[in-house]
Amino acid sequence: MSSPAIVTIAGEPSGTLRGKAQVAAYWAKALQAAPSLHFDLVNVLAGVNSVTLYYRGHRGLSAEVFHFGLRGKVSRAFAHYALPSGQTESGPLSPPSAAAPDRSRQRWDPRLYASNARFVSDLGASLLDVLAPRAGERILDVGCGDGALTAKLGAGGSRVVAVDASPEMVAGARLRGLDARVMDGQALIFDQEFDAVFSNAALHWMQSLPRVIAGIWRALKPGGRFVGEMGGAGNIATIVAALEAALGRRGVDAAALNPWCFPSAEAFRALLEAQGFSVRFVTPFPRPTRLPGDVGGWLETFAQPFTSILLPAERERFISEVVEALRPAFCDAEGNWTADYVRLRFAAIKPEASAENQPRRHSS
Ligand code: BEZ
Repeated sequence: MSSPAIVTIAGEPSGTLRGKAQVAAYWAKALQAAPSLHFDLVNVLAGVNSVTLYYRGHRGLSAEVFHFGLRGKVSRAFAHYALPSGQTESGPLSPPSAAAPDRSRQRWDPRLYASNARFVSDLGASLLDVLAPRAGERILDVGCGDGALTAKLGAGGSRVVAVDASPEMVAGARLRGLDARVMDGQALIFDQEFDAVFSNAALHWMQSLPRVIAGIWRALKPGGRFVGEMGGAGNIATIVAALEAALGRRGVDAAALNPWCFPSAEAFRALLEAQGFSVRFVTPFPRPTRLPGDVGGWLETFAQPFTSILLPAERERFISEVVEALRPAFCDAEGNWTADYVRLRFAAIKPEASAENQPRRHSS
């Protein structure tokens, strides 16, 4: 049996174990480290004397290839996991705990989002005044979600292209008649074609802010503006602490599962300036956020990277435990729940005369 996990769990540098005894000892150790380990089968592909199982496990989408021997029993097995984000070549894999958190554990469901998270676009609406879109402008919305705010963005006659990494959310945005495309904000493909780039409550889901900012810079015309809002340092800190504590009680290191990045104003300004943006402002502010129900709906909608590693039967118990842990801080005497959001709102300009816009000097 060969698996990148064998290198880290069994300490076997070849990544291969031989014989039942070695495999049994490996699994005993692996299950001790992760007692609630489970796999959701996605698909089974049949080959000649072999099958491939696609499944979702705690390393995200994975595949295992099993070869059958002469007596119809598995004689060889090979496990495959996604490379850490951004790593595209083969080579020694980072230990899984060092890999970037796997965003594929987060599933977006437009209906769940509409009932538990409509406040995201509602509260983001005031950001449109900062952008002040003008008729005829071409605007890119990065991380458009189900397009509720994008639709308002285009209401004044600007031409909006919306992108989101979730095919489900893009389908929801298209139902609103928007030009929405499935695209990772860290891999934008546009070249100097937008007058403005807008983003609300999306950037904190992206692991590499420098890649996002570089893509937005490329997408903007000289003089174009970048206006947005995201979670800032300290955002939902009480929720994160409660998730970490509840998973810690189950022997799971929740910090390794945390998909969110909430930069300080100083750190975010530095990233924008390093790209060449002229920063108008980066303003952090607490925004205690009233939830439509209890925090359980919020957890079901947004915290799947933490909950999906648990057995389905355990998830409900886990969520109730986190809800109860948060009740004293979040729930008032009338039963209203308010979460500890902290926002970072910003506006920046791509200068007309940035290095890439200067005519090239040719040496003779
Ligand atoms: C936010 O908008 O700040 C947020 C939403 C869901 C998860 C994490 C942060």
